[in-house]
Amino acid sequence: MFDLNTCIRKNILDLQPYRCAREGILLDANECSFGSVLNDAGVEYNRYPDPRQNEIKQRFCELRNKEHPYAKPLKPENMVVGVGSDEIIDSLIRISCIPGKDKILACPPSYGMYPVSAKVNDIQVVNVLLKPDFDLDIDAVYDTLSKDNSIKVVFACSPGNPTAKTLNLNSIKKLLAHPTWNGIIVMDEAYIDFASPEKTAVSLVNDYPNLAVCQTLSKSFGLAGIRIGFCLTSPEIATIMNSLKAPYNISEPTSRLAIKALSPESVSKMYEHRDRALAQRDRLCKEVTAIPGVGKIIGGFDANFILVQVLSNPVNGVPSNEVAKFVYLKMATDYKIVVRFRGNEPMCEGSLRMTIGTESEVSALLRTFRHTLEEYYAKN
Ligand SMILES: Cc1ncc(COP(=O)(O)O)c(C=O)c1O
Repeated sequence: MFDLNTCIRKNILDLQPYRCAREGILLDANECSFGSVLNDAGVEYNRYPDPRQNEIKQRFCELRNKEHPYAKPLKPENMVVGVGSDEIIDSLIRISCIPGKDKILACPPSYGMYPVSAKVNDIQVVNVLLKPDFDLDIDAVYDTLSKDNSIKVVFACSPGNPTAKTLNLNSIKKLLAHPTWNGIIVMDEAYIDFASPEKTAVSLVNDYPNLAVCQTLSKSFGLAGIRIGFCLTSPEIATIMNSLKAPYNISEPTSRLAIKALSPESVSKMYEHRDRALAQRDRLCKEVTAIPGVGKIIGGFDANFILVQVLSNPVNGVPSNEVAKFVYLKMATDYKIVVRFRGNEPMCEGSLRMTIGTESEVSALLRTFRHTLEEYYAKN
């Protein structure tokens, strides 16, 4: 029973998108008419960037439409371009949640920015844990939404961070069609290019008015440094988010780089890098589990990282945060190989999240990980 007019905050509904038609002699924005103090290969930066970023939107829609030809096609009206998907996450909370009153729902173990953004906006977080196999606990989420209409946004991370597992789209559809709850379901798909193509929710965007899919150029495109993320959603929600954002959130250099990144040659390169990462992921999975003291790879194989369990001892050990922390700290300080300790997350006891590196980085990680574990067990 999604109703945009009551789901979105009243003050936000009243906002109008920033409009500007700029051509000719530009004396309307108090820029410097004499050029910029530096230029980059002949490009001047004295003008404010395009608030709409239509070329980026057009190219990104073309990419996703080509990958999913059977879905209702995405158009630039379905899109918001943000300073990374972190800005999109914050914006989704801000359009819908009244500070001090409303709530979001998250499904830990999950991405750390949802609670951070909620806190910044004075919004409470209702946590419904994933199931031990890291699938959504659909009945628990559904019931929680039935009971609490102050929850305005559900964050579902797919592939999950740190779980590396995609969520079942049928569960998401059930939530999207909830008969009494009035809110937005967010599918955070930062790692979607590393998963199989049918796992994405982009194909549902034009079927459900309350779905928002977050994607980013930070991961598969290797452009974390330029800060570009996207929201794919209904034209109505996109218009509201575009009205809320700062008009010039995407800088001109970032915009130019993103347009290049979405050219056919760069997209081919993205697929090529993705395939290399997947090959190294297969290798890391196989070789890491052969190291004495390493337990299971918990979670899935749908992202550019894996979640590896470290045991209290190599024979009949149980997952151990003490050992995982030791290994993580020792590798970072003595060998400058940095992975992420995730053992404090629910159902992640003893786990380390390892990003898939290049062939030589994976070799260094495997070597050092084995050696550091051996050192721990020899001493304890
Ligand atoms: C699940 C998830 N969502 C969003 C982000 C943020 O991505 P961006 O760089 O686009 O802000 C990350 C970054 O690690 C992430 O893991």
